[in-house]
Parts: sequence; structure tokens; C-alpha cells
Amino acid sequence: MTPTIIDRVRTTFEARFGRESILIRAPGRVNLIGEHTDYNECYVLPAAIDRAIYMAIKPGNNESHWISLDLNQTFDMPTGLISHSKLRWPDYLQGVLLEFSAMDISLPPIDMVFGGDIPIGSGMSSSAALTTGFAFAIDRLFNLGLDRVAIAELGQRAENNFVGMKCGIMDQFASVLGREKTLLQLDCRDLSCVFVPFNRTDVRIVLCDTQVKHNLAGSEYNTRRSQCETGIETLKHHYPKVASLRDVSPDMLEAHRHNMDEVVYRRCSYVIAENQRVITACNALSADDLTAFGIAMNGSHHGLRDEYEVSCPELDVLQSVAEITTGVLGSRMMGGGFGGCTINLVEEPALADFQKTMSEAFHQKLDKEPIIHVCQLKGGTEELR
Ligand code: GLA
Repeated sequence: MTPTIIDRVRTTFEARFGRESILIRAPGRVNLIGEHTDYNECYVLPAAIDRAIYMAIKPGNNESHWISLDLNQTFDMPTGLISHSKLRWPDYLQGVLLEFSAMDISLPPIDMVFGGDIPIGSGMSSSAALTTGFAFAIDRLFNLGLDRVAIAELGQRAENNFVGMKCGIMDQFASVLGREKTLLQLDCRDLSCVFVPFNRTDVRIVLCDTQVKHNLAGSEYNTRRSQCETGIETLKHHYPKVASLRDVSPDMLEAHRHNMDEVVYRRCSYVIAENQRVITACNALSADDLTAFGIAMNGSHHGLRDEYEVSCPELDVLQSVAEITTGVLGSRMMGGGFGGCTINLVEEPALADFQKTMSEAFHQKLDKEPIIHVCQLKGGTEELR
């Protein structure tokens, strides 16, 4: 029998450092709808999934040693000597250590081995799982008593401050606070969250991975964020109470379209419409109207492609094929954009045909082997015994 990821993480840890103190599972996430809305204080609808990073961890001796099993790389860090690494992934972990020290929590060296099955750069949030899983592990290891929201926020700050990715809170929140068979209807303004049961056997959540990892994703992401901020600055002159795009109606934006750059207008217009689509989709879900839910998903993709301009040709190809395939309720790109996966809501009886249709599209239109994941919604970060 081939060893599981958990076995490999454990055995590698034991061989190098002795027995681990704790073993953590930190899941990836999907997002049904609400893209680029989190940092605009709007709504999102993510969920934690059955793909995760597993970490074996314990306090070390003189310096920290971290091993990435999947990349077959080791990083050694003398205590207190934090600096950016060419390997990139250690920056997510170092960013977490810096955030603990910003909270005046001093930590000893830490030994850690991790590996998992969240494809890197596929938009399923392997980085959020890494930062928050590490923070969660440290919290457990040293009994720091942080609650789950604080851990999610710490992970976000690690990426914002040290990695330089000005991400919102969605991925970290979903990874840490996810629940089995549940969607998280999260209000990113105050982090209040409605846990929406999604225990359906008649539909499946299916990801189609373009396998495109766009180098510009980080910088373009930060540009989108600052374009939204520029829009808010303009609107604030006219509506002093506006704190974020959450407070702006389509009419308010239209009234001041001439005061802003056309690109900034398009970005703001997308976010305002997308937030409305999340609300529409959530209402559709409670009314058990998955057709309306799917229409909102398709609309989300069109907005991301045409107004927010964060899609890419491969995502558009997969989405346009899915959108007209029988049994597909909705299809759209997922996550930050410029590559990664489409997320598709597919009726169970049509699942096999959908996979066949998409496989042909991968071969014929993208000249690639298909990578298709049928997802299960799982619980958030946890310690495994
Ligand atoms: C990335 C970010 C999230 C969110 C999405 C887009 O996944 O980490 O905070 O902004 O992009 O919705």
C-alpha cells in the first residue's frame, strides 16, 4: 500500500527530529461566489475542502528547521534572523513568526515538516493553509489561547506584511473556520459569518484546473486593490460616509463616473455588482433555487473577465464550455485570477458527462491533460491525534 501524505510527513519528521509534538491538518478552500469582494468589505461564500496541508511540528533546539516534502526543500533559520528567502514558501512561515513577535510573543526555534495535496498556485489557497496552519500549530504548541478568527487574521497579516500580497481575509477565514458540508456566508466588514449547510447529494462542486500559474498574479492583485481604493477616495469627496465599496450603490457610482478614470470605474462597478450577486446567490440558496444560484455564478465570471480583467484565456475557454454544458448550473473562475481553477456547480446525474466534455476541452482547446477535482466540503484547521 502506498503511504498516505500523513504517513510521509510523520516518518520524515521522526527520521530527522524524533517524534512530533503535534500534527495539524490545514485545508484548502473553494469559493462559490464573491471574488475580489473580501478586501472591499463585502460578502463571500467560501468553504474548506478535502485537500489540505499536513504539518508535523515541535519546538526545536538552536535554530528552526523546516522541510517541504512536496518541493523536497529544507530551510534552516537561526533564531531571530528573519529575511526573505529565494525559496518563497519559507516567507509565509517567517511572516507568521514576525506577526507573533509583533504581538510580543517570543517563540523558541521550531522544527516542522509539511506536505499535502493542495496544488500550489491553483487558486485553492495553499498559502493560506500554510500560514494559518503554522499559526494554529504554534498556538497549540505553546498554549497561547488565540481564537480561530485571531489565527485567520494573523495569517492574513503575515501575507500582507512580509510576503507583500495584500490579500483579503477570505482564504484564511475559510481554512481555519470551515465546517463539514457547510458554506461560509462571510461578511468581510465585521467578520460575522452565517454557516450555511450544504449537504446536497444532487449537485457536486467540481474544479477544473487550467494548470496556469500566472507570475503577475501577485502584482496585478495589488493593483486591483489599489484601483478600488482610488475609486473610494473619489467617492468619499461626494459621500463622506463611504468607507468602502460596500457603502456604494450603482447609482452613486454612476453619478460620479465622470470624476474617475474609466478603468477605476470598471473595477468599482464590478465589485458593487459582485456583492449584489453574492446576496442574490445566498437568497437563491435558501429558496433552494440552484438555477438562480448558477446564473449568478456565470455573471460573476463575466464580470471578472470583462470588468475586473483578472481572467485568462484558459479560464475563459473552460468556463465558456462549461456554461453551455447540460447539467452545469453555473461556472466561473475562482480565486485571485490569472490562472488556477474554474469552479462548477454540476447536477449529480450529469457529472460523468461533464467530466468527459471538460476532458475533451482540455485536450482539444488547451492541448493539456485534464485535471478535474470533485470536492467535498470539510472541517477547518484541526489537530490530528
Ligand atoms: C485571493 C485572496 C483572497 C481574495 C481572492 C479573490 O484568493 O487571497 O483574499 O481576495 O483572491 O476573491
